[in-house]
Amino acid sequence: MLRGKNIIIGICGGIAAYKTPLLVRLLKKRGANVRVALTEGGSRFVSELALATVSEEPVYRSIFPPTHTEGTDFTGHISLGEWADALIIAPATANTLAKLGAGLCDDMLTACFITLRPGKPVLIFPAMDGQMFLSPSVQRNIKTLATQGCRLISPESGELASGQSGLGRMPEPESILGYLEEELFSTTQRSPLYDKSVVVTAGPTREKIDGVRFISNYSSGKMGFAIARAAAKRGARVTLITGPVHLETPFGVERLDVESAAEMHSAARRFFNSSNIFVGAAAVSDYRPLAPYEGKMKKDEQEIVVTLIKNPDILAEFSLQKAPGQLAIGFALETETGLDNARKKLLEKKLDLIAFNFFDRKTSGFEVDTNILTLVGSDGVTTELPQLTKDDAAGKLLDAIEILCRSNGNNTQKK
Ligand code: C5P
Repeated sequence: MLRGKNIIIGICGGIAAYKTPLLVRLLKKRGANVRVALTEGGSRFVSELALATVSEEPVYRSIFPPTHTEGTDFTGHISLGEWADALIIAPATANTLAKLGAGLCDDMLTACFITLRPGKPVLIFPAMDGQMFLSPSVQRNIKTLATQGCRLISPESGELASGQSGLGRMPEPESILGYLEEELFSTTQRSPLYDKSVVVTAGPTREKIDGVRFISNYSSGKMGFAIARAAAKRGARVTLITGPVHLETPFGVERLDVESAAEMHSAARRFFNSSNIFVGAAAVSDYRPLAPYEGKMKKDEQEIVVTLIKNPDILAEFSLQKAPGQLAIGFALETETGLDNARKKLLEKKLDLIAFNFFDRKTSGFEVDTNILTLVGSDGVTTELPQLTKDDAAGKLLDAIEILCRSNGNNTQKK
């Protein structure tokens, strides 16, 4: 799998750097082309000559060419990033993690991180003292890089250079190779969602009673955001139409913020024809006040009556007019007689798949980080999932959608 692949190994200034010539050799033995980007700190722990010898390439350090002789590559920081099929940073120090997280690029390693082509795997192996690793700033930078799509591999526990033992060791070169193969394998095994247009609705809607009050629900948007994140990771082009939530936009996802069901409806309609897959994960208000009061209602009356009228069913509208090959996926949050109701909705809305979501406030449903879903397909096949994090539940839902795409064959054309 590694034969002919172009791999950059970024090496920072940690004691584990002494193991990296072995990593270069292992990669070369597997037929990979290896170039090394060595930071100033890294050069204190491992020699440039050793790395150049095993990689059979010059070692990349400064972004500024040393001399202006003929043949000098003045844009090496760009061509190095463009050349690579994958970037490994091992060991990654706290300093370089901070630079990468902030987008600084003052040496070849940090510059090629920025010029790497989109979608190419980046594997980062932080290795440092355990307390350093757990410090809030290092953890914040790790989180930032993970949300950008990098794979961060936690250090291992064992003996440390400080003489203490604990978390902080870089995995052995063989193990780093395993991670790389796994990552390259998962990107070569393309998901059927790759390059498909996926629209996800998420979060609650707000329906105005007057200028300062609204009807809404407890939806946090976490499930819809997890679906959008997972679909983007599988290479889909994702549009996330969300009601008011307090969540960060997943990496690579186009986000549209709306407030009411009417706004969500008109935003979603713009994508109906051009989308391959529509996932309705929003908790859309079924009703809205017929005539919202302009300004703030006064509290003079003992009793007031607000007349509600039905909102459009966004998902049903898409599903009932979908073209062959388009897929409509819905959720059914129920408190009682759940599964039967979910099956009824699947049929009424002509959905391809529905995720029945039992509501119990602690383990599943609104606001919490976990969910217990039962997936029901249009063929009646029912899959009960255990309690999972919303990210894992989203992964299972997408696995089921991938099966639908495959059985649709070429029908689910790129839109
Ligand atoms: O019928 P019910 O509201 O329970 O259906 C829930 C499913 O329909 C969810 O997938 C939800 O996102 C979608 N829905 C919608 N527009 C509405 C109501 C529900 O898209 N007005």
